[in-house]
Amino acid sequence: MNYEELIESAIEMQNYSYVPYSHFHVGAALLTADGKVYTGCNIENGSYGATNCAERAAIFKAVSEGEKNFSAIAVVGGHEDKDGKPTIEDFCPPCGICRQVMLEFCKKDFKIILAKNPKDYKVFTLNDLLPESFSLKD
Ligand code: THU
Repeated sequence: MNYEELIESAIEMQNYSYVPYSHFHVGAALLTADGKVYTGCNIENGSYGATNCAERAAIFKAVSEGEKNFSAIAVVGGHEDKDGKPTIEDFCPPCGICRQVMLEFCKKDFKIILAKNPKDYKVFTLNDLLPESFSLKD
């Protein structure tokens, strides 16, 4: 599984986003160290606060199936068009809560791939996006 394929999986996941409030579709695809992929989409809630992001959906799916060794996550996001189809207007960096959840399970060199399409992407490490972080682990 290369980064292009991981991004394609994330884009596919935008179709499953449940976004009646923001109409903003986020897809994520998480790669484990041994090459498995766990995907996620954002799932909103009328309380707003109970909304779950795509990145956390993917991470929680993986952790709840016993996975704890991750190498990369691809993330894409964008508003839907007038027909309700997801778009990608720009890079979609993970929110602060998702960065903190990544820190719980991933090393500082975990790769975060932000994409506009499978050929146009930027790669950051978790340390790039969450420097001087708080953790209770080592
Ligand atoms: N969202 C994500 O899924 N991931 C992020 O890292 C940023 C925000 C979702 C939450 C909400 O459903 C919508 O995008 C607008 O905030």
